[in-house]
Amino acid sequence: MRILVTGAGGNIGKGIVPRLHAAGHSLVLSDVNRLPDEPPFADLPFVQCDVQAGFGLEGAAQGCDLLLHLPAWHGIHSRAKTEADFWRLNVDGTFWALQAARAAGIRRLVFLSSQSWHDHYGKYGFTKQVGEELCEYHRRNHGLRYVAIRPADFTPWGDDYLNRYGARLLYGGVDREDVLGYVEAAVEHLGPDLPDGGSPEALIVDAVRPDAFTAEQVRDWEDDHLTACERVFPGSRDLLERYAIDVRRRPSVVAGGEDGPGAAIGYTPTRHFGTFLDDLRRLDATGEPDAVRAITCPY
Ligand SMILES: NC(=O)c1ccc[n+]([C@@H]2O[C@H](COP(=O)([O-])OP(=O)(O)OC[C@H]3O[C@@H](n4cnc5c(N)ncnc54)[C@H](O)[C@@H]3O)[C@@H](O)[C@H]2O)c1
Repeated sequence: MRILVTGAGGNIGKGIVPRLHAAGHSLVLSDVNRLPDEPPFADLPFVQCDVQAGFGLEGAAQGCDLLLHLPAWHGIHSRAKTEADFWRLNVDGTFWALQAARAAGIRRLVFLSSQSWHDHYGKYGFTKQVGEELCEYHRRNHGLRYVAIRPADFTPWGDDYLNRYGARLLYGGVDREDVLGYVEAAVEHLGPDLPDGGSPEALIVDAVRPDAFTAEQVRDWEDDHLTACERVFPGSRDLLERYAIDVRRRPSVVAGGEDGPGAAIGYTPTRHFGTFLDDLRRLDATGEPDAVRAITCPY
């Protein structure tokens, strides 16, 4: 397919562009900022455009089969950006991108929503609620098939591999590679043409980590978190103590349905706190704990 990627220079953009390229798709990139003339962006068509402005994307959308719409202010911008900022980028920007897609005859959309959608009337969550409604409006009125992906938190974790990456996987986090997996699977899911007639498809997908435990297994977690964690993840106690990983709070259990959260698009997430502990164990075996503590986020 020929895919228009808006907000291509951001966190998801940098990760998904090489994946879609490698999968054989032809890409048209867009962002408000210029993209570096280096991999993964070098030599790909690029249109610099502010999606809030209401013009500029129509030409880029011509000849495309699918829109992957990424730009938004999100959780980390909550303090710095106003309600009006959130509305302009997340709502107006989405409306204009979908209008450009409509005008170009694009019938497929992957929209990045968020788990913050559940905070319906929060500054951020509200704009994702309206964003999903804009997808639905364009489905009903303009035949746009879409997958709205609602990722959990995958913001870069800076220099705190152990708690911001690792422990986050017990609570509200998801590994970025899994988010990219969900997005790529959504694109592929929409690929095949559907027979004429019938209602265009709409899917909402929670891009969350898999659960490595049941609610029952973690019920008494806060009575003695080290013992509870050892029971679920044998061998964890030593690592938690050596690296001061804070898991005192009871882990959240993800409601992913019987077949898992990505079943509707055929994606199975693979990273959770247990896989983090496996990685940490391998790193620890090198005998350089200070080097492990100094690991920084690669994206
Ligand atoms: N990062 C997370 O943890 C997280 C979690 C859940 C959902 N999401 C959603 O995923 C999507 C992508 O997130 P990300 O982490 O890649 O974001 P990001 O902030 O890293 O990237 C956003 C991109 O959009 C571009 N952009 C900003 N304003 C623009 C404008 N006016 N016109 C055109 N482009 C503009 C930016 O230059 C940037 O390249 C967002 O919709 C976000 O709400 C992110």
